[in-house]
Amino acid sequence: MAQQPIAEAFTTTKRSWWEKSIVYQIYPKSFYDSNQDGIGDLQGVIQKLDYLQEIGIDVIWLSPVYTSPMDDNGYDISDYQGIAEEFGTMEDMEQLIAEADRRGMKLIMDLVVNHTSDEHPWFAESRTNKLHPQRDWYIWKDRNENGGPPNQWQSVFGGSCWEYEPVTDQYYMHTFSKKQPDLNWENPQLRQAVYDMIHWWIEKGIAGFRVDAITFIKKVFDAAGHEVGVVKANQKGVQTFLTELSNQSFRPYDLLTVAEAPGVTLEQLSSYVGEDGYFSMLFEFDHVDLDLGKDGLWFKPKKWELSDFKKAISNSQKIFNRQGWGALYLENHDQPRSLSKFIEPDGIGPVSAKMLATVYFLLKGTPFIYQGQELGMTNTAFASVESFNDLASIDQYHSALKEGFSEADALTAVGNRSRDNARTPMQWNDTENAGFSKEKPWLAVNDNYSVVNAEHRNDPESVFSYYQQLIHLRKNSDYADVLTYGQYEEVLENHPDAIAYIRRDETKSIAVIANFKNKNVKIDLPFGVKNVILTNDSVTEKFDALKPYECAVLELLN
Ligand code: GLC
Ligand code: CA
Repeated sequence: MAQQPIAEAFTTTKRSWWEKSIVYQIYPKSFYDSNQDGIGDLQGVIQKLDYLQEIGIDVIWLSPVYTSPMDDNGYDISDYQGIAEEFGTMEDMEQLIAEADRRGMKLIMDLVVNHTSDEHPWFAESRTNKLHPQRDWYIWKDRNENGGPPNQWQSVFGGSCWEYEPVTDQYYMHTFSKKQPDLNWENPQLRQAVYDMIHWWIEKGIAGFRVDAITFIKKVFDAAGHEVGVVKANQKGVQTFLTELSNQSFRPYDLLTVAEAPGVTLEQLSSYVGEDGYFSMLFEFDHVDLDLGKDGLWFKPKKWELSDFKKAISNSQKIFNRQGWGALYLENHDQPRSLSKFIEPDGIGPVSAKMLATVYFLLKGTPFIYQGQELGMTNTAFASVESFNDLASIDQYHSALKEGFSEADALTAVGNRSRDNARTPMQWNDTENAGFSKEKPWLAVNDNYSVVNAEHRNDPESVFSYYQQLIHLRKNSDYADVLTYGQYEEVLENHPDAIAYIRRDETKSIAVIANFKNKNVKIDLPFGVKNVILTNDSVTEKFDALKPYECAVLELLN
């Protein structure tokens, strides 16, 4: 077996606190409702901090809690320095930062600066007249020669990305919903206002940001910009903006910054992240968007093979062997639940949930857990289009109907991909509304809450306990160093059913092997095993066969 040269990679890099961290994402609207209005809130998060500590996480990523009309559940911000009423107050926010700190946890916020809400005062000013000094803080264009929108670009949520404003007889651009007008990053005053706002939050004691949709901030309106299709991310020139953002706002501090950065190519990856990059790490999409149809259509899913998933993961891991750092994730608030996406319906359960956890958690990078993932939460059922809350789901449903889908087929197809799958209330226990609230929740709870809930967490066989063990391995065990800094090496590359890799440093070699399929699978391990560190079932002594979804973490003979 070919061993990679590991010495060079170990000597050069500077180490950062976030390389050893485990991050947990909270979608506040669905986490815990402290005041019984059916909506999760900041006091609810505070009340559950002990739970987060129990898992063993270090960093909380809080999805947006800023003042917002909630067209896109807070990703449409009308005051960056205010807290949405339904979530609480600035005092609650300060209390959350302090209470998290008391438990040794840091907090990162969502930074949404590609766009604001159309109800943000900046936009209210900008839209009044063409000569207003803030006109240029947003993107306004004249009608085209036929009186229509300036070009044929489509918004990510469907329809034209241009909205006509009769008052000034111009269109404004919105990459997302029409209630989310795009900021014009070409304007230096706007950029300065953004940096000032970022400093203000850092002064409040937060430890960094998840940077929303950031590769959309550069718009290129040349001839090539007149193609039909969804607005493109990561266009030429975006690097100039990202360099300034990073230098002005991030570099002076010791932050964790994780970018949602669609469009970044494998070749660019190492220059975007790590020591010399714009961000600590970024979320890649290849491994979660395997099933996504052309132009992001959910109802025309693409067929994918395990080999596609393996390639997506190993491509970037191999880059991180040399430079940069990974953001490891299978779920977030925009994705369906990983169990429902990757596992066959009759294989969904604790064993497969633990297998998925093992596969991504021990890669090179910082692991992210999305709320409920540690319980094995799954996709929910949608009875009709009325059960969707997410504006993207509703749009995709109507597009499916336009393309000739029956209502039932549209519901199933969009339901499989709906962002609402991730947004159903957190399942705390088996009482009414899964213990999330005494009031009817803003989005219906998943029916399986009587079986899948946090009350079972002390059972040593629970998915929750397993996550605790993975965290212990990464942070406090004899294997912590190799699992954090060790080189990544792919094995069983061509195996159609199993996924396997090795993490290796000067003193230890750890293998992760997993059967990704709902059947018995034979494997031929190219190494000798010294010790079984962790399994989700009961791997046979010879390691030549794995039961459905079986996995193991093995220490190898060096
Ligand atoms: C990001 C967010 C998503 C939101 C969009 C617009 O993709 O993760 O939830 O709808 O940006 O802000
Ligand atoms: Ca509430």
